[in-house]
Order: sequence, then structure tokens, then C-alpha cells
Amino acid sequence: MAATALAAATVMAMVVASAMEGAAQSARPPEEQPEHYPEGAHREDTFYFCTACHSFKLVAAQGMSRDRWNDTLDFMVSRHKMPDVQGQDREKILDYLSSAFPERREPRGWQSPFAPK
Ligand code: HEC
Repeated sequence: MAATALAAATVMAMVVASAMEGAAQSARPPEEQPEHYPEGAHREDTFYFCTACHSFKLVAAQGMSRDRWNDTLDFMVSRHKMPDVQGQDREKILDYLSSAFPERREPRGWQSPFAPK
């Protein structure tokens, strides 16, 4: 009997949690899912953090070094009022971004003289 009540409470909690999740993520296109993007550690965390404001396509269109992803986060904070995420959470986001969307090399080995070193 107690076990049944516990199970029912657990199911309720899950329903409420998923409903809240849905409301918080209304900014991204409903068809967009973390699974659409390259697999990697912290993919879900990064996806939901960034898609609070815009489609993850905007993110996935980029390819940058970890340093430049870090600058991008600063830019999101100063320019677009993104919550300033620091410490471990920031490391997680940078881990995912720099491994899933690394700096792209020119295919024929050509390097722009203007590219930041
Ligand atoms: C608080 C809102 C907010 C959050 C959270 C946010 N961004 Fe943005 N971001 C914006 C806005 C606003 C734009 C400009 C949107 C546009 O051009 O349509 C933007 C644009 C961008 C661009 C395109 C920049 C360009 O010059 O074209 C990139 C890349 C980007 N964001 C990365 C990220 C990443 C990575 C995250 C998660 C770590 C993130 N953003 C989270 C608000 C946010």
C-alpha cells in the first residue's frame, strides 16, 4: 500500500517536472531536441541553457576554439543578458561546445592571415 502511494507520488512529480520543463523552453522550436546535435558529455545541459533564448542551430552553425567559445559566452552575457555562468557549469558548457563544434580548419590547409592565433 505504501509502495503504491509512493509510486503514484513519483509519477505525479515526473508529470509536473516535465510540464514545467515544457513551459521554460518555449523559446526554441518545439521540434528541436538535444539528440539532433553531436553526442558528447554535457550535451543536454548546454542545449537547454542556450535554447532558453534561441535555437541551438545558431550555436551549431559556429565552430570555434575553447577560448573563442569562452569569449562568445562573455558576449552573450554582456550583449544579450545571458545568466553569467561560472565555475564548473561553465567548464561543462565549454567542454561540450569545443568538442562538438571545434574550430574548423580550411580544407586545403590555407590559413587566413587574419585568423586569430
Ligand atoms: C539570455 C538569452 C541568451 C542565452 C541564454 C544565450 N544566448 Fe546566444 N544569443 C542571444 C541573442 C538575443 C542572440 C542574437 C539572436 C539573433 O541574432 O537572432 C544570440 C546569438 C548567438 C550567437 C550568434 C552570434 C552571431 O554573431 O551570429 C551565438 C553563436 C550564440 N548566441 C551562442 C550562444 C550559446 C553557445 C549559448 C549557451 C551557452 C547562448 N548563446 C545562450 C541570447 C542568448
